[in-house]
Amino acid sequence: MARAPLMLACLLAAAAPASGTEPTIPGVENPARARIDYMLKCQGCHQPDGTGNAVNTPPLKNEVARFLSVEGGRAFLVQVPGVASVDLGDERLAEVLNWTLHRFDSAHLPKGFRPYTAAEVARLRRTPLRLDRVERRNQLVSRFPE
Ligand code: HEC
Repeated sequence: MARAPLMLACLLAAAAPASGTEPTIPGVENPARARIDYMLKCQGCHQPDGTGNAVNTPPLKNEVARFLSVEGGRAFLVQVPGVASVDLGDERLAEVLNWTLHRFDSAHLPKGFRPYTAAEVARLRRTPLRLDRVERRNQLVSRFPE
């Protein structure tokens, strides 16, 4: 337990803006902070490399941005419980989502992709998916372009 404050200090230091080592990502003001938010809030299920696991977590890697090409997919990415209910404010959530899309699946980002904004995320997360998410996801995936 004695290590917790030190670890926190390291994380905060790593999240300092303008470190110069993080790539610039549209819609992500502080990429280092977004990376740490992903580490703390998302990778426990999705894994550090975004590959998820075959039992219960779909891969983000080479997949996640494909949802943006089908109607309803943009909202879905915010409304899944792991995203909508995370204890991050709207701005931080928009940033970690934009970071996730670029980090794991930039190849499938549609042309002219507009980054999520805090206002959009705030609106969408008010109506999270519950049990209906599995069927909704299947519907969207079945419409992915080849
Ligand atoms: C408790 C495990 C868990 C955590 C934590 C979690 N997710 Fe997920 N995530 C899932 C599962 C499972 C799905 C599939 C949809 C569903 O059943 O909720 C999913 C779906 C998604 C999707 C939609 C893409 C798809 O293939 O369904 C995105 C985007 C996503 N997660 C991003 C995140 C981000 C960003 C975080 C951190 C803020 C996060 N997730 C935290 C388990 C998790």
